[in-house]
Amino acid sequence: MFVYDYITYSQNDTEELGKRFSVALEPGTEVAMYGGLGAGKTAFTRGVLRGLGYEGTVSSPTFAIVNEYRGSRLDLAHFDMYRISTEEELYGTGFYDYLDGRTAVFMEWSENIPFAVAEDAVKVIIEHGAGDVRHIRIESPKEIAI
Ligand SMILES: Nc1ncnc2c1ncn2[C@@H]1O[C@H](COP(=O)(O)OP(=O)(O)O)[C@@H](O)[C@H]1O
Ligand SMILES: [Mg+2]
Repeated sequence: MFVYDYITYSQNDTEELGKRFSVALEPGTEVAMYGGLGAGKTAFTRGVLRGLGYEGTVSSPTFAIVNEYRGSRLDLAHFDMYRISTEEELYGTGFYDYLDGRTAVFMEWSENIPFAVAEDAVKVIIEHGAGDVRHIRIESPKEIAI
C-alpha cells in the first residue's frame, strides 16, 4: 500500500490535486472517497474531470446517484452513495454495470457501502481541518506519480 498525504488550503488546491491525480488514472480504477459533508469529495472529482478535459458543471449526483462522463482516454462514473446502504439499493443504481474495466468509478460516501469497495480500490480520505484546511490522504495499492 502506498500512502500519499496532502494538505490543501482552498477548493482550488483540492481541484488541482484531483487534476494531478487524473494524469495517472487508469480505466477500471475504483476510487473510494471518504469524508463528511463539505469535505471536498466533489471538488476533488471536479479536478479529476478537469484534468481529463471536461469543462462543464460537476456537482454531487445526489438525486441522480450517478453521473457519467465520457472521455477520450477513459469514461468516469461519479457516484454519490449518501442514500445507498444495502447491496440491493446499490445494485439498483447500476453500479455493477460500471465495473467493466473501461470506466473509472468515483464514489462519494464510500463509508455507506464498505462491501462495494474493491480490494484494489484507491482510497481518498479527506479530513476537515480548521477553516478551509483539508487533510487529504490517498491510499493506493500501486505506486502513483502525483
Ligand atoms: N481545502 C478545500 N478543499 C475543498 N473544498 C474546500 C476547501 N476549503 C473550503 N472548501 C469548501 O468546502 C466545500 C466542499 O464542497 P464539496 O466538494 O461539494 O464537498 P463534498 O462533496 O465532500 O460534500 C465547498 O463549499 C468549498 O468551497
Ligand atoms: Mg459531494
